[in-house]
Amino acid sequence: MTVQEQASPAEVRRKGVPGFMAGKSPGVEQPPPPEPGELPQTPHEIEGPYFRLGAPMRSNLLEPGDKPGIVLSGRVLTERGKPVSGAVVSFWSSDAAGNYDMVGWRYSGYVLTDGEGRYEVTTIIPGCYEPREAKHIHVKVQGVSRPVTTQLYVEGEPGNTDDDYYHPALVVPCTTDENGVKHGTFDFVIKQVTREENVTPESLAARV
Ligand SMILES: [Fe+2]
Repeated sequence: MTVQEQASPAEVRRKGVPGFMAGKSPGVEQPPPPEPGELPQTPHEIEGPYFRLGAPMRSNLLEPGDKPGIVLSGRVLTERGKPVSGAVVSFWSSDAAGNYDMVGWRYSGYVLTDGEGRYEVTTIIPGCYEPREAKHIHVKVQGVSRPVTTQLYVEGEPGNTDDDYYHPALVVPCTTDENGVKHGTFDFVIKQVTREENVTPESLAARV
């Protein structure tokens, strides 16, 4: 393909095609492709400028007066499909107008997975903000691992495939109930550090 024949980013933004910035940012390293018998690991995405430590543990991120937008649930699994219990799953997003709370903890919180690796959180459908076209929920997932930072996109919301960071593997399939609340399911797949990887002769020798 010659340079002249290459599609522009706008032309390749369509269903099933990642946005041209998906996973591409300094410091964002993608997980390796799955070995035979393994699940594909959740793609990594940028943290963005709005993550702050210290959000409360809670499974309901709604503010007074909010109507639930989405009940998001699923599991945290290893690449071998084993549930990860006690994993920390942190969520943060903008409000419905596209603004992030940089003082308090609106639309920010974390949950722990149960003994079967399950999590659930209820929140709003966030708004959009420049330069993002997609309504997205930022997530960090950590088990016995480094935190995995990613973003989720809500199936059926406008703008998903116009977003530079959109990734089709990060779309949450949803149903909508009689009250207009979306119910989405998404399983995170993250590699766990094994004892063999974590405890080496070198690491033991380095302990003081
Ligand atoms: Fe964001």
